[in-house]
Amino acid sequence: MGLLLPILLAFLAALLGGLYLLGVFRQRRPGEPPLDKGLMPWLGHVLEFRKNTLKFLERMTQKHGDVFTVQLGGCYITFLQDPLSFGSLVKESREKLDFSKFAVQLVYRVFGYKAVENGHQILHMASNKHLKGDGLEVMTQAMMSNLQNLMLHNIGTSADEGTWIDEGLFNYSYNIVFRAGYLSLFGNEPHNTEGNESKVKEKDRVDSQALFYKFRKYDQLFPNLAYGILLPMQRLEVERLMGFFLDSVSVQKIKSRDNVSRWLWDIQQATEELGSEETMRSRYMFVLLWASQGNTGPSAFWLLFFLMKHPEAMAAVKEEVDTLLKEFGQEVQPGGPLVNLTREMLMKTPVLDSAVEETLRLTTAPVLTRAVLQDMTLKMADGREYFLRKGDRMAVFPYSAVHIDPEIHPDPHAFQYNRFLNPDGTKKTDFYKAGKKVKYYNMPWGAGVSMCPGRFFATNELKQFVFLMLVYFEFELKKPDEMIPGIDFKRWGFGSMQPDRDVEFRYRLRY
Ligand code: HEM
Repeated sequence: MGLLLPILLAFLAALLGGLYLLGVFRQRRPGEPPLDKGLMPWLGHVLEFRKNTLKFLERMTQKHGDVFTVQLGGCYITFLQDPLSFGSLVKESREKLDFSKFAVQLVYRVFGYKAVENGHQILHMASNKHLKGDGLEVMTQAMMSNLQNLMLHNIGTSADEGTWIDEGLFNYSYNIVFRAGYLSLFGNEPHNTEGNESKVKEKDRVDSQALFYKFRKYDQLFPNLAYGILLPMQRLEVERLMGFFLDSVSVQKIKSRDNVSRWLWDIQQATEELGSEETMRSRYMFVLLWASQGNTGPSAFWLLFFLMKHPEAMAAVKEEVDTLLKEFGQEVQPGGPLVNLTREMLMKTPVLDSAVEETLRLTTAPVLTRAVLQDMTLKMADGREYFLRKGDRMAVFPYSAVHIDPEIHPDPHAFQYNRFLNPDGTKKTDFYKAGKKVKYYNMPWGAGVSMCPGRFFATNELKQFVFLMLVYFEFELKKPDEMIPGIDFKRWGFGSMQPDRDVEFRYRLRY
C-alpha cells in the first residue's frame, strides 16, 4: 500500500495534467468572448476549419456573433469579425498583440528558417526603400524588361506569327508573372557566362521555366505542409524540392547573378552582418521567393479572367491603356521599339486600379493572426469589451468579415470593375456599415505590422502584365460561356486563392 499510493497519485497528476493540456478544464470566464471548444479534445474544430475556413467561420459567426474563441489544434483563437473594430487588432501595441512570434514559428515549421533578431525590421526597412516610392521605379523597369523577354521574345520573327496558342489561363498567367517577378527580384543570368544578349535572355527563360515547374509542385503541397499533415511520400517530395530551391536561390548563386534587386541584396547583407549563417540565409532567400511569388501569379489569372468574362470592363481598361499610350507619345508599330510602361504611366490608371482592387477583394483571403502576450481587454467599436487571455491568439478573416459583406459591398459576389471608382474617376474609399464609415473596406494585403511590404510592386506587376496582354496580344476564352471556376477551399487563409480547375484560352501576337 505504501508504494501504491505514490504511484496512484503520480498517475492521477499525469492524467489531470494531460486533460489540462487537452483543454478539458478550460471554461469561459466572465467577460470573455463565447468559447467553443468543439467536441474533440485538443483538436477542437481544426478539421472543420481546415476543410473550409470560410464555411466554418460563417457558422461560428451565426452561432456566437462577431467575437468568439475557438479551439484549433491546442490553440485558443479569438476571431474578431466586426470590421468596425479591426483597429483593435491592427493598432494594438506590440507588447500585447504580437505578429513576429507567430510568424517566426510558422517560417521555422514550414521552411526550417530560424529568424534573426530584428529580421522583421530589416525586411520592412528594405521594402520601404526599394519596393515603394523612388525605389519602385527601378523595380518597375526591371519587371517590364523581364516581361518583355518572356512574352515578346518572338515578336517580329516568324516563329509564331499569327499562330493561335491554346493554353490554360491559370498556368499561363502564373507562369509569366512568377518568372518575370523572380527575375526582377533575384536577378538575371550573368553576361560573362553566356556571351551575347540574346543567349543570356534565352537562359533566363529556360532557367525560370524550370524553377516555376518546381515551385508549382511545392505550391500544391503547401497547404498540407503549413498544417503539418503531409503524408510520408509528400514529406519526401517536399524535402527534395526544398533541396532544389536551397541550391537554386542560394546566397552563392544569387551573388553571381546580374541585376539582383536592391531589396533582396540589402536583406541578404543585413542578415549576413548580423552573423546569420550562409545556409540560413539561403533558406531566407527561399522564404522570400515564396512570399514574393506565391500570390501575384494567381491574382494575375483572376484579373485577366474577370476582364475576359466582363466585356464592358475589358473595353474600359483597354480604352484607358490606349489613351495612356497616346498621352505618353508611344505607339506599337510592327518592327518598332517595344512600348515601355513606366511607373509614371502606372500612376495614371484609375480604371485598371479599380479592376485590380476588385479582383483582390474577390480572390484574396488571408487570416491575420497575432499572439496575445499579456492578459488584455479587447475594445469593440460599439463599446463592448472582452477579456483575452495571455497565451491565446487573436485573428481576423477579412474575406468573410469585409470583402463579401453585402452591407459594405452590395452584390458582393459580382465582379464590378468600377466598384472602387467615384463617378468623377477618382478612387473610391467611402464604404459604410451600419451607417458608419469602414476604414478597412478591402484587406488583400493584411493590415498593421504585417501588412504586405510588396503591395505596390505586386500591383504594378499585375498592371504591367495586363497592359502587355492588351497591347500586344489577341486572346479569348475557348468557351466564352464557361462558368467561373470555384475556389480551391484548401487555400483559405493563405493569401491569393487559386481556382479549383484551369480555364482554357487561346492567344496570339498581334504583330
Ligand atoms: C497579389 C500579390 C500579393 C498578395 C495578395 C500578398 C498578400 C500578403 C499578405 C496578406 C501578407 C500578410 C500576411 C499576414 O499578415 O500574416 C503578406 C506578407 C508579405 N508579403 Fe505579400 N502579397 C503579394 C505579393 C507580394 C510581393 C510581390 C512581395 C515581394 C516583392 C511580397 C512580400 C511579402 C512579405 C515579405 C510578407 C511578410 C511580411 C511580414 O513578415 O511582415 N508580397 N503578403
